Amino acid sequence: MSENSPRILMCPPDHYGIEYEINPWMNRSLGAIRELAFRQWKNLHDTLIALGVQVETMPPQPGLPDLVFTANAGLIFHNIFLSSRFRHEVRARESPYFEAWFAAHGFQVEHLPENTYHEGAGDALFCGDTLFAGYRTRSDALAHQWVGEKLGVRVLPVELIDPRFYHLDTCFCPLAPGVALYYPGAFDAYGQRVLTTHVPHLIAVTDTEALRFGCNAVVVGKTVVHNSRCPRMAEDLARAGYRSIEVELDEFLKAGGSAKCLTLRLDGEEAAGWKYHRSPV
Ligand code: ARG
Repeated sequence: MSENSPRILMCPPDHYGIEYEINPWMNRSLGAIRELAFRQWKNLHDTLIALGVQVETMPPQPGLPDLVFTANAGLIFHNIFLSSRFRHEVRARESPYFEAWFAAHGFQVEHLPENTYHEGAGDALFCGDTLFAGYRTRSDALAHQWVGEKLGVRVLPVELIDPRFYHLDTCFCPLAPGVALYYPGAFDAYGQRVLTTHVPHLIAVTDTEALRFGCNAVVVGKTVVHNSRCPRMAEDLARAGYRSIEVELDEFLKAGGSAKCLTLRLDGEEAAGWKYHRSPV
């Protein structure tokens, strides 16, 4: 494994399940099939390893079924781990475990002010030097502004208007500086204008494929790993010079998540401008 190989944090789904309902996808009576979830998760994990990713895993915890969604742990900026402030108490219980993992792995653990909500890399995504920030359902616009000041980066808040696309990473996926996938229907006219103005090459995803969480994809160099049955998006990606790999993750769609939410990039995403500069802090 080379020193420059991408690093991603995942958490095995030993205790995964639909035990509460905090977004429109979750339905307790439907439940999740644990063995199938495990197979799907393992397939994603092994696909990333085959792409040369150094996958770190943190220990699963009983009673924390959503701990698998490591994207929501916090926001990574160089060596800083800015711990999330979850909107829902059932998920706020995950924070001590994430913080312990990051502290033990050499990150500087920082906290947002109390009484604000911010769900980490689920709602804040760098595309170039700009942090695109989704707010309303989970994160506060004010928390995003605080993050911008703290990290010294430009923040562009966009409101998420469709409850099914409650995190920014369900409807926006930066591929490289200036290049991203997005689902226009998740944004109001202003949000769409912010994206079209600041991201010169935007690839729109159809309603059907957005509902398969096609935008919730993991980008490794020029390869995009995403949920199955998104053929149109795969074609558009190919046209833009990206290889697409489908990994079925339907057991996680039941909780409102897919490929991206199951991962947290520890060394900066491909599109993150800061990844190419030295740490200012
Ligand atoms: N059940 C989890 C929640 O509602 C799913 C989180 C998915 N994560 C994401 N980054 N979209 O919080």
